[in-house]
Amino acid sequence: MNIELPILTSEQETEVAEQQLNRKLYVETYGCQMNVNDTEIVQGVMHKHGYDVTDTPDNADVILLNTCAIRDNAEKKIHERLNHLKYYKKRNKDLVVGILGCMAERLRGDLLGEKNLVDLVVGPDEYRRVPELVENALGGGQGVAVKLSRVETYDDIIPLRTEGISSWVSIMRGCDKFCTFCVVPFTRGRERSRGMQSIVDEVKYLWDSGFKETTLLGQNVNSYRDEEGGYDFADLLDACAKAAPQLRIRYTTSHPYDMSDKLIETMAMHKNICEYIHLPVQSGSDRILKLMNRHYSVEHYIERIAKIKEYMPNCALSTDIIVGFCTETEEDHTMTMQLMREVRYDGAYMFNYSPRENTKAWKMGDDVPDEVKTRRLNEIIEQQTKIAAEINKTEEGKTFEVLVEGPSKSSTKNNSNDQWRGRTDHNKIVVFPHSESVSYVVGDTINVRVNRSTSATLFGDVVAG
Ligand code: SAH
Ligand code: SF4
Ligand code: F3S
Repeated sequence: MNIELPILTSEQETEVAEQQLNRKLYVETYGCQMNVNDTEIVQGVMHKHGYDVTDTPDNADVILLNTCAIRDNAEKKIHERLNHLKYYKKRNKDLVVGILGCMAERLRGDLLGEKNLVDLVVGPDEYRRVPELVENALGGGQGVAVKLSRVETYDDIIPLRTEGISSWVSIMRGCDKFCTFCVVPFTRGRERSRGMQSIVDEVKYLWDSGFKETTLLGQNVNSYRDEEGGYDFADLLDACAKAAPQLRIRYTTSHPYDMSDKLIETMAMHKNICEYIHLPVQSGSDRILKLMNRHYSVEHYIERIAKIKEYMPNCALSTDIIVGFCTETEEDHTMTMQLMREVRYDGAYMFNYSPRENTKAWKMGDDVPDEVKTRRLNEIIEQQTKIAAEINKTEEGKTFEVLVEGPSKSSTKNNSNDQWRGRTDHNKIVVFPHSESVSYVVGDTINVRVNRSTSATLFGDVVAG
């Protein structure tokens, strides 16, 4: 199916909206990038029904929180945010507040009326029904829509994207892996993929519309499958890279079990597919990996890394790690530390294990005391920070192609415009001095020679190409 107008400018708004309601919608997004893209889908659906999207809750008629349920603290954050939102409801009695996303799917009707505030609860496969449920809530009703689907991919919906240089494209939804610690198969349902041609058309359209970078999204992108055409994820990546040869293409997340030779070879073949792979390992102990139902051993994982390095010696790598999973011993923890030293990741997302109701691991218990989890977490963070700093140190003196994103965080904070930032192919942030006289603009690719670094950032000067 062809995607016509993924980005809506203000001129186009009146053409596309079926009716004008003069109502303002504000959506706040939590959790992973799939939620970021889902928010754009919800905004697309609501826009078509006459809502204008606003970037502040102050003047909104409808406030939606697109939530995450991956760990307990993700849900705590939402409860706290709801407390703050009471203030807006006090100011405007007609305000509609809704919960979308994974926490909505997990807690369902229990969230209705939460803090006398929540009017609607909508799970990830029911976003087409948001306008109807909001209308109902505006009339004083309450509603819950949390049915999971085996087929919904929102293939025909035009996401309402914020104009910029980076864009997200969901290529599949759900997850069938059932890692024992994870809520995602319960909150997002069964795995299903969009058709390849529709994704390729969208990617091409994004390039034609001015986006410079696109990330293909899914919980398990490398088990992508276009059943009709018999295409796998490597075929899709190849087709996207050819359809928009100047567009930087990334993807996340890939599962080590499905990391095929063909996929690695395809990445190495195309200059515009970024040499960066996020490959969550979770643990360095085979016993724990088995308890987690991860479907691979440490040996398989290391062998996949070796294959990646064989084809792309400079490929950047990042990972996710959980510490303190049930029964994790000091020896298991030492193995995780060892694996991290062996792979030498450029970056890692590291978490304390958080038991989730209804998962298989919930019944296994949560026997590692909090203080042990936190001590192990601090150990892996400290080691990872050191390794990342060492890797970044070796980048000093090298010149990188950097996609310009705009003022750096510190420049934005102190309202100066003298430091800008961008990203390398390897997904590393580079900060460089900026002045009014430069010739580049946001979205250009420039050359930056690195002269200083920390574990998280490279610093350098713009040099001629
Ligand atoms: N689909 C991706 C991961 C999605 S969730 C994959 O399989 O790799 C992102 C990360 O959150 C996971 O990789 C895991 O490290 C972490 N995570 C998931 N469930 C968790 C839990 N119950 N406690 C702590 N961390 C968890
Ligand atoms: Fe969760 Fe595992 Fe699926 Fe990733 S692969 S979303 S960790 S069940
Ligand atoms: Fe969170 Fe759901 Fe993403 S649980 S990590 S928002 S898939």
